[in-house]
Amino acid sequence: MFEKQPSHVVSRPAPESLRKQRFGMLRSKLRRRITVCVVALVFIATGSAIADVYLPNLFPFLDLTGFSGTYSNTGSVDLSGPFFQSLGTNGRTCGTCHAPSDTFGLSAVDAQFRYFISGGKDPLFAQIDGSTCPTGTVNNSLVVNNGLIRIGLTVPPNTFDPDPPQYTITAVEDPYGCALTTSEGQQTVSVYRRPLPATNLGFLSAVMFDGRESFFYPLNNGQTFAANLNTDLTQQATDATLTHAQATQPPTATQLSQIVGFELALNSAQLSDFFAGSLSKGANGGAQFLSTQPYYPGINDSLGGDPEGNPFTPNVFTIYTSFQNSRNPQQASIARGEQIFNTQPLTISDVPGLTTGTQQIVGTCTTCHDTFNVGNHSFPLPLDIGTGHSLTYETDPNIIAALQQLQTPTLPVFELVCTQGSLAGSTYYTSDPGKALITGQCSDIGRGKGLILRGLAGRAPYFHNGVAANLQQVVNFYNLRFQIGLSQQQMQDLVNFLQTL
Ligand code: HEC
Ligand code: HEC
Repeated sequence: MFEKQPSHVVSRPAPESLRKQRFGMLRSKLRRRITVCVVALVFIATGSAIADVYLPNLFPFLDLTGFSGTYSNTGSVDLSGPFFQSLGTNGRTCGTCHAPSDTFGLSAVDAQFRYFISGGKDPLFAQIDGSTCPTGTVNNSLVVNNGLIRIGLTVPPNTFDPDPPQYTITAVEDPYGCALTTSEGQQTVSVYRRPLPATNLGFLSAVMFDGRESFFYPLNNGQTFAANLNTDLTQQATDATLTHAQATQPPTATQLSQIVGFELALNSAQLSDFFAGSLSKGANGGAQFLSTQPYYPGINDSLGGDPEGNPFTPNVFTIYTSFQNSRNPQQASIARGEQIFNTQPLTISDVPGLTTGTQQIVGTCTTCHDTFNVGNHSFPLPLDIGTGHSLTYETDPNIIAALQQLQTPTLPVFELVCTQGSLAGSTYYTSDPGKALITGQCSDIGRGKGLILRGLAGRAPYFHNGVAANLQQVVNFYNLRFQIGLSQQQMQDLVNFLQTL
């Protein structure tokens, strides 16, 4: 199915002179844009006291493959509200870790840049969670190299689960000395996670990787969706201010409603690609189109639970259909990548949350990434695809082969031994117990939500723990993890597609 497409593309190369001319134009355009963007980046990254400053909608920020940007339903991105104000004691704002230049996430390149220009003094590197441990010697390596923030989570019994957990937990690898601490009988685990983008939030089915901020008010029902999302994000903003910003009191009700209103108006995506050009001219990429994308909890559910009764279609992404017959080779590759994402068969096995025992499901990328043109799972469906497993302890050959494609940073490894419930007697090894820290259930070990796939290019590295340095590594991981058998060209097409989201 892929032989015939490139033929008209390779048979009509642009004449050398024309190509040079085009490239020259591209370069001077690029240079102008880079200057604008670097100035904007420095301005935003340093978090200087900004009063009444707005980013125009779709303001372009340079990334490795083009430009990303944000569209706010309010007409522009207001940089003066409480999202960008220091509400705590360490100088941090929400924007410290959710930067407009990084599609409201945090790229490792940005963290490195900030470390360099501030000599490690930027509030991003505050010891509380910008260092591997909250006390002792400061070590910023995980945030600088992998954009990872330390999250301290209590082991049940805790606010979510009043009962003792079904497992006992120990740290079998503790590279930084604070993997598991006990104070007054309460165990606390340090896990290291990527800031999830504070944009495109209207498509969420769970808040936080482990869903802890949507635990009490779930996002699984159209009737309660808007109200619950508001409640969840308000609680989330309170918790973020008290923990990351080390505030001594929560934000005011007005500040909270401004933060949540600001976030909910945002949609972010890649706007243009160096080689494919604008992603919204003649196609439906970009952030503005995304802001019009219909959504309700369970839309296109791959497990057949769409509340409107619509059957699942694997054709989840349809934004680059019009590139299919493009003469621009990059556009044609992106369209092929979209097709691969939607339709290429893969064998899903050993995914707690989806498969049991030795069960195998033949699916597609869209079995898990089923929300139209967004890519998260439209119902809360936390899964363990193996990204947090440890090569030292892993026994599944597909997971071993897949993990070898990644650039896993040095992380703690926890051993969880199940003592109660149907999994009693089983032992698990992971750098992040995921949802099991919220529920205390063995069946939730290592499980976390599927992530929204828009604005990827602006916020490498990938997966909740930053183990894939780039999208090539993501695709290499999946190719072996789910035995897809993609050719080099197909892998490149898939990467080219993902980087335009
Ligand atoms: C020190 C860095 C840091 C700061 C400062 C910070 N966050 Fe976050 N944010 C994170 C991390 C890390 C996560 C993912 C945590 C997890 O999954 O357990 C996250 C997750 C989120 C999410 C969840 C998105 C999703 O897809 O579930 C939202 C919303 C959010 N932050 C908003 C905010 C707001 C609002 C503020 C300011 C009040 C803020 N953050 C301050 C690091 C930060
Ligand atoms: C069995 C379910 C499943 C399948 C199949 C699947 N994914 Fe995922 N995907 C997930 C989950 C769960 C995560 C979050 C994992 C994590 O953060 O550790 C994820 C994360 C990602 C991310 C990282 C996003 C980010 O912001 O870091 C990308 C990119 C991605 N998937 C692309 C794909 C592609 C491409 C395919 C097909 C080749 C695919 N996925 C197939 C479940 C799946």
